[in-house]
Amino acid sequence: MTTTKNHEEVSTKQVLGQMLVGAWMTQAIYVAAELGIADLLAAGPRTVEELAEDCHAHASSLYRVLRALASVGIFAEDAHGRFSLTPLAEQLRSDAPDPQRAFAIMLGAEFYKSWGKLLHGVKTGGEAFRTAFGVPFFQYMTEHPERHSIYDAAMESFAVGETEPMIDAYDFSPFKTVADVGGGNGLVLASILKRHPGMKGILFDLPAVADRARTIVSGFSLDGQCQIVGGDFFASVPTGVDAYVLRHIIHDWNDDDAVAILRNCREAMNPEGRVLVVEIVIPPGNEPCFGKWLDLMMLVVGGRERTEEQYRRLFAEAGLKLSRIVPTAAEISVIEGIRAS
Ligand SMILES: C[S@@+](CC[C@H](N)C(=O)[O-])C[C@H]1O[C@@H](n2cnc3c(N)ncnc32)[C@H](O)[C@@H]1O
Repeated sequence: MTTTKNHEEVSTKQVLGQMLVGAWMTQAIYVAAELGIADLLAAGPRTVEELAEDCHAHASSLYRVLRALASVGIFAEDAHGRFSLTPLAEQLRSDAPDPQRAFAIMLGAEFYKSWGKLLHGVKTGGEAFRTAFGVPFFQYMTEHPERHSIYDAAMESFAVGETEPMIDAYDFSPFKTVADVGGGNGLVLASILKRHPGMKGILFDLPAVADRARTIVSGFSLDGQCQIVGGDFFASVPTGVDAYVLRHIIHDWNDDDAVAILRNCREAMNPEGRVLVVEIVIPPGNEPCFGKWLDLMMLVVGGRERTEEQYRRLFAEAGLKLSRIVPTAAEISVIEGIRAS
C-alpha cells in the first residue's frame, strides 16, 4: 500500500506507516475472498449493487472495500461504477490456475484472530492459536472439517510454487518407494510420481484428510502408483519405504514433537532409507528471508522455523544424521537425513 504520489521520496515514517497498516489489507482481501467477489466477476464487470445482492452483503460497505482494493490493483472500477478483475484479483478466483482464495481466507479468519494473541504468546511462551481458540491448531482443524478443507487448499497454493523446484533440485530417481508424510491433498506426491513413473508412493495424513485426498488424487491418473493411508504420525508411519518426504511438517511442531515424528520415520524406513525434511533453513544475520516471517506464523500455532544447526540437533536426537542440505530455486531446501547408526 502506498500513501505517496509517484516519484516522491518516501520517508522512514511513511515506510513504517505502510508496514503498520498491512493488516488492513489482509482483512480487505479476506472479505473479498470470503464473499467470492472474484468468482462473481468471472463473467465480466458488474456494479457493486449486483455483487452485493449475489453475495448477501451491504452494497455501500462492499463498495468501500472494493474501492480500497482497486487502489492497490486488486479489482478495477470503471467510469460506470462497474468492477472487474485484474491480474491480482484473478488469483482470488476459485478456479484460478494457482488459486490464492483459500490462503486469503485462512489468513483473514483463524490465523488473523490468533495473530491478535501474539503479544500474549510472546510474554508467556504459550501458543497464540490455543489462546484464541482454546485448543491446539490441528485439534481445531480435526474438529472443524470444513475449515480443514480450506486449510488443505491453502497449503496446496503454497505447494504450487515450491514443488517443481524441489523435484528439479533433489534427485528422487534412486528411490523405489516414497511416502509423503502429512502430504495433505497429495499434490506434492503426485508431482514426484508423475516425474518418476516407475516409483510407488504412499500419501499419509490424518484419516479425514486422507479420505478427502482419495477423491482428489484419483483425478491425477496415477494408475495404481499411489496408495493413500490415514493415520497419526505420532503413533507410526508406513514401514519399508525408501524416502519419507516431510514438507512443511517439522516446522509445525516444537522440538519434542518434531523429534517424535522424525524418530518414527527412522524406525520405519528401509536400512538405506532417507528422511527428507523440506523447509526453509533460516540463514544467519539480518538478511531478508520469508522464513523469518513464516517463523512467526509457526510461533502462533506452536511450531518454529529452524537454522541448519537446529536441524542437525533435531536429527541427532531422533537417531538420524543430517547428510546434506540441497537448496532449491524456491526458498525451501531439502534437508536429508540417514540413519546415524
Ligand atoms: C502444513 S501442512 C503440510 C501439507 C503438505 N506436506 C504440504 O507441503 O503442502 C501439515 C500437514 O500435516 C498433517 N498432520 C497434522 N497432524 C498430523 C498427524 N498427527 N498425523 C498425520 N498428519 C498430520 C495435516 O493434516 C497437514 O496436511
